[in-house]
Amino acid sequence: MQERIERLKEQFETELNKARTGEAAEALRISYLGKKGAVTELLKGLKDASNDQRKEIGLHVNQLKKYAETLIQQKVEEIKKAEIEKLVNSAEKYDVTLPSEDNVGSYTPITLVQRQLEEIFSSMGFTIEDFSEIVNDYQCFESLNIPEFHPARDTHDTYYLENGQVLKTHTSAAQNAIMRKYGPPLRAIFPGRCFRNESTDASHETTFFQMEGIMIDKDISISNLIYFMKKMLSEVFERDVKVRLRPGFFPFVEPGFELDINCLICGGDGCPSCKNSGWLELCPCGMIHPNVLKMAGIDPDEYTGFAFGLGLTRLAMMKYGVKDIRDFNSGNLKSLSQFKHE
Ligand code: PHE
Repeated sequence: MQERIERLKEQFETELNKARTGEAAEALRISYLGKKGAVTELLKGLKDASNDQRKEIGLHVNQLKKYAETLIQQKVEEIKKAEIEKLVNSAEKYDVTLPSEDNVGSYTPITLVQRQLEEIFSSMGFTIEDFSEIVNDYQCFESLNIPEFHPARDTHDTYYLENGQVLKTHTSAAQNAIMRKYGPPLRAIFPGRCFRNESTDASHETTFFQMEGIMIDKDISISNLIYFMKKMLSEVFERDVKVRLRPGFFPFVEPGFELDINCLICGGDGCPSCKNSGWLELCPCGMIHPNVLKMAGIDPDEYTGFAFGLGLTRLAMMKYGVKDIRDFNSGNLKSLSQFKHE
């Protein structure tokens, strides 16, 4: 009998060693310790044994029972632990510090308008150019017919770096480089962030976005300029927008204009965004000055062109009804979240 117990113990140990899952370990519990299990069966053989034998064998069988029970319990726990570890180290890990679905970001209205304009202009054959935010004095002023001490510099006060470079005050600063890069004929737009010393109010910010556009070819005239401006505005606002052209002075265009659009926030009645005039200056423009063409190596007798400097931030305000320009830099997520589904 003692031998049978020993053999059963060994057999149990080998089988338990092979068990790899919780279910396999549970199955062993049933086949050894269950009502009809191998260990339970041993006790049945005690019927014919003497009292003393019964006592002794009973003791051994009970010891085996307890032993098997403890081992199965340990095995089940081991397997559980290994499963959890596997899960933790698996590729399905996720980062609990990530924001939840509700906080998905959105594009700012400026990006949305910029992308729309890029699409409109590229469909009309314009290339989209990138340019740095830090430029030199020649790019920002000299090459645009604004020599040192020219009064036009007063309205373009900005940050100057110690090495003489400046934070660009207008996207026109890229004109010379882009004209040189491609030469005529040329159609290009170049959006960018601009910086100026401004007293901030509902329609003025120290940091804002513009989109410059230039078109240079033989026989380009003001009617080409007006055509492209009207086409662009009607596409952006998806309706006919009222515009007016006023003479405007910019040293790098001749003649120069201010293109205003009817204030779409107040409908022309007057509000803080349009300084109560009903009109908003949106797009200064004009025919590129011969000196500017010459400085870019283009012969003004052969080529002419127009340039415009669209106020991208202002256009976004008009299109989306943003009343205060300062909202764009306020970091107010509430005011931006409404553009999520655009
Ligand atoms: N760069 C000018 C400004 O920001 C605007 C402008 C661009 C005017 C192109 C005419 C032509 O003040």
